[in-house]
Amino acid sequence: MSIVTLNVVRGDSETGRRTEDYEVPYREGMSLLDAIFWIREHKDTSFSVRYSCRSANACKECMAVVDGKAGYLCSIRAVPDSRVHIEPLTGLPWIKDLATSLE
Ligand code: FES
Repeated sequence: MSIVTLNVVRGDSETGRRTEDYEVPYREGMSLLDAIFWIREHKDTSFSVRYSCRSANACKECMAVVDGKAGYLCSIRAVPDSRVHIEPLTGLPWIKDLATSLE
């Protein structure tokens, strides 16, 4: 079975910033947001990420920095047997993990 490794920024302003690796079973057509949902379901229910529409690329809430470039987690496809670094957007107040304030 193929996996996708997500290297993700975790933490908040009190605990500080750290990165953690998560190995997620790859599924055809899986987005990075789908991979994060898998982590929340199977590894850590406290993982914070902002989203609403989940796939329509309509709400614009799931934006993060993926391998150095800003993009929507619900529209970036996971690549089998790859490793991807994901961090919160810069320039916005950081709330927790990948969630930033929209204000
Ligand atoms: S979850 Fe709405 S644009 Fe990604």
